[in-house]
Amino acid sequence: MNLLIMGLPGAGKGTQAARIVEKFGVVHISTGDMFRAAIANQTEMGLLAKTYIDKGELVPDEVTNGIVKERLAQEDVKQKGFLLDGYPRTAEQAHALDTTLSTLHIKLDGVINIIVDPAHLVERLSGRIINRKTGESYHKIFNPPTDYNETDYYQREDDKPETVKRRLDVNIAQSQPIIDHYRTKGLVYDIKGDQEIEFVFEDITEVLLKLK
Ligand code: AP5
Ligand code: MG
Repeated sequence: MNLLIMGLPGAGKGTQAARIVEKFGVVHISTGDMFRAAIANQTEMGLLAKTYIDKGELVPDEVTNGIVKERLAQEDVKQKGFLLDGYPRTAEQAHALDTTLSTLHIKLDGVINIIVDPAHLVERLSGRIINRKTGESYHKIFNPPTDYNETDYYQREDDKPETVKRRLDVNIAQSQPIIDHYRTKGLVYDIKGDQEIEFVFEDITEVLLKLK
């Protein structure tokens, strides 16, 4: 299966992606995770991306399109299918993805669109903690890890209140045309994200079992 997972910052893309990957065996491709890995490795691309991410702005399309195109061409994607998380995020990226997929002879099967009331997202992002070893996201209140301690878990730099506000504004402005682009193709599955994590996953699973 070849899938996109969409939703505003904090909607639960990464949380659900981890569960989808485990159950359906697709390759998780998160542009945000790729940028954070490049920042940690201090690559040239990572240092450039950081200047945008720290302000809550989008990394320029040509950089993002390039890394996604390169990743989608790898062998594991062909064998297992993919779940793209956090991409496309602009009309230009959606266009580039259409071209890349058609060049690689890959068909998109569905777009999981997680809908959450934006009023809840600041609370989700400000309480998010990430496991240093596994990279998995948890929440101090909504999804606390059993082994929480301050050494093994960290908060994302861009989860500071000022940056969160800008991320939400940028993404709210950009996301609707992208969803509409896929909706006209009949690919979008709306998922109610304002419910417990396991119930969100049940709804996604129901959709994916039909698509499989
Ligand atoms: P990215 O890493 O993609 O961040 P994002 O879109 O802002 O989304 P998040 O990862 O913050 O949220 P999520 O939906 O994954 O939520 P999560 O599951 O963690 O991008 C970061 C930056 O990189 C961008 O700002 C941009 O600069 C750059 N970038 C990335 N892609 C780009 C692109 N295509 N083009 C240009 N630039 C790009 O959950 C959030 C919290 O809520 C967690 O604490 C979780 O435990 C909790 N939670 C999850 N589900 C629930 C639930 N059902 N109930 C209660 N709590 C829940
Ligand atoms: Mg994420």
